[in-house]
Amino acid sequence: MTRRRKRSAGPRKDRHPFDWYVEPRWAAELVFRHVAFLGKVGDPCCGLGTIPSAARAYGYDTVAADLHDRGYEHLDAVADFLTDASTFEGIDNLVFNSPYSYRPRIAEAFVRRALELARHKVAALVPIKWLCTQVRFDLFAKFPPKEVLVLSTRPSMPPGNKIAELGDRAFKGGTIDYCWVIWEIGYTGPTDTRWIKREASAGA
Ligand SMILES: C[S@@+](CC[C@H](N)C(=O)[O-])C[C@H]1O[C@@H](n2cnc3c(N)ncnc32)[C@H](O)[C@@H]1O
Repeated sequence: MTRRRKRSAGPRKDRHPFDWYVEPRWAAELVFRHVAFLGKVGDPCCGLGTIPSAARAYGYDTVAADLHDRGYEHLDAVADFLTDASTFEGIDNLVFNSPYSYRPRIAEAFVRRALELARHKVAALVPIKWLCTQVRFDLFAKFPPKEVLVLSTRPSMPPGNKIAELGDRAFKGGTIDYCWVIWEIGYTGPTDTRWIKREASAGA
């Protein structure tokens, strides 16, 4: 007889309290390799700064903030993006790996806020399953993404506060499929899908 696993009764206690899960550098670089952004790139939940660092390496000027100072050297502000986005007024693009579940529907709230603020593009790194739910049907119907970039390699996203302890294992063994979802302001569809590959030489 097969037994069904019990459904979770709420947020998992072993999760980081603010969803500080750090994407590998290669996953951040992929979006800048495959998508052209006009103007500045902002990350409202930059954590360690993986995304703005990759953006800078691609020649973009950046703006970076987070709810907490997690040690990024070019942090511009400590702020709750959902209640105080003043750092990003007039921003051209917002590119981020948002908190996912410490509050219900927080990733969607980040995307909706970003779509109100950005003048050119919004890019969000999300688990692929985030695309597949009735709950976000209205979001995708009202704001069809310009493209979805499917990552052919699963990124490992360790909790930021455990990276040192995990050492070499931190960015190995990803188990969740991710994609970059790209919106262009004013775009009405259809949505393209592309499969993108991690470069063989790219590090963590
Ligand atoms: C998935 S992690 C992003 C990791 C980041 N890319 C890095 O390189 O470390 C989500 C981040 O969102 C931040 N965060 C959570 N709630 C937030 C909020 N309301 N406003 C701004 N940042 C928030 C967390 O502090 C955490 O650093």
